[in-house]
Amino acid sequence: MASGCRAAAQPDIAVPPLKSLAPYRVGTCAMTGQLDDAGWTRLALTHFNQITPEWEMKMEYILTPDGYRFDAPDRIASWCDSHGMALHGTTLIWYSQGEEAFRGLSRADYGQRFDRYIAAVAGRYAGRVRGWDVVNEAVAEDGVGLRSHHWSQNLGDIDHMRRAFDQAKQADPDAVLFLNDYNLENNPRKGATFLKLVEQLLKAGAPVGGIGSQSHLNIEIPEGRISAFIHEAAQFGLPLHISELDASRRREGGPPDVRSVSFRSRQQFDRVKELTDAYSRLPEQQRYGLTLWGVRDTDSWLRRPPHDDGRDSPLAFDASGQPTTVARALSESWLRSQ
Ligand code: XIL
Repeated sequence: MASGCRAAAQPDIAVPPLKSLAPYRVGTCAMTGQLDDAGWTRLALTHFNQITPEWEMKMEYILTPDGYRFDAPDRIASWCDSHGMALHGTTLIWYSQGEEAFRGLSRADYGQRFDRYIAAVAGRYAGRVRGWDVVNEAVAEDGVGLRSHHWSQNLGDIDHMRRAFDQAKQADPDAVLFLNDYNLENNPRKGATFLKLVEQLLKAGAPVGGIGSQSHLNIEIPEGRISAFIHEAAQFGLPLHISELDASRRREGGPPDVRSVSFRSRQQFDRVKELTDAYSRLPEQQRYGLTLWGVRDTDSWLRRPPHDDGRDSPLAFDASGQPTTVARALSESWLRSQ
């Protein structure tokens, strides 16, 4: 707690604490190594009031050949408790994880292991997490239909998701249970398929309690798409979580990007502000929170291989902890919406 008080008193931060401006939770992601980094903790405690473990609450970390490994997620959860930070869990079922650990099982064992994993993980953090990303990235990359993977092949397209939501509900009845995905704003077809899936799951009786949009934005997204998606998604009346916000200034692939720094900066400001404005206009009970996918640019997954160009500035603070264009877009949006 002492370090939290010191953090708030630091004079060198040029924007007010982000969490003091937003009328809802402002989250970031964390890995255990960062909890020992004074620069990271100072910014995290000053500006954020919710944590999503970046990697160490995922199946790839927790599930080992010998059972479950909870040391790292437990440490993040305790850190949250002792610093008054809310905790958001991610992710129980993700197409990209678990294939090896579940390989070779009979259909019955596969289903049992699936249920046991969710019961163990969601049960362990019951009462401590506000919510869970129960199913992550279910929609196909091109937005046409759903992904096919080992979970869907063994337990059925819709059925494996319904089962995951049911298990999570049993294990933690009070957590908000999210279907979470990305490129929902950038790709309207994917956004539409995702919202259709929410509808299908609800019709099938799955206890979907929230809609998570990762919002890994970029400066190519045409004006109006982000707010259009948020508006559409809000029609279910469920809480929405902006779950992994960052805003790349890069264009992946193609010819050299000759656009000026000031142009890219303006585009980035406008897209982040569009998102934040649209999110802040939702009814209060639908604003679960807005989570940035990291604290400093250098903490971002976009600044690691294979994405890293050594320059991208997708987050709210630069390497030395100074606020970036993203921080200015967020604060301007929140100050104007007050
Ligand atoms: C990424 C993390 O940032 C990495 O540290 C980890 O190795 C893999 O996952 N979509 C998601 C997130 O749902 O969980 C991903 O996070 C980023 C893309």
